[in-house]
Amino acid sequence: MRLPDPLRGGLQEVLVLTFAATGRGNCVEVDGTPYVYVRTASGSFVMRADCPHRGGPLHLAAEGPEGKSLICPWHERRTATVRMRQRIPAVRTGRTVRAVLPHPPQAEVSHQHRPLSPALAC
Ligand code: FES
Repeated sequence: MRLPDPLRGGLQEVLVLTFAATGRGNCVEVDGTPYVYVRTASGSFVMRADCPHRGGPLHLAAEGPEGKSLICPWHERRTATVRMRQRIPAVRTGRTVRAVLPHPPQAEVSHQHRPLSPALAC
């Protein structure tokens, strides 16, 4: 019996980036997708700074009850923080964050600043 190769002949290449956890350079934009490091009542993680609904500023989100969700300021859609925490592997060391982002290593990268809402500030 022959099983299909789950790796399709190789490992997937990913982009590993280091950026500031807070302040200047706290947002890394990869091929037009911004990411920020946030701290919520239910934990810290790297997330997309734009809302999956219509691109609203999710980095300015309010926290839902018990810190279990973020509420987008544009249309008040809720996103579960438990799902967000699992999407992007990341570790904070001091003032920097290293994250494994779902982009190819040759992706276009820029560092920016995005303000965070009080609910997400580190
Ligand atoms: S853009 Fe975020 S809920 Fe619509």
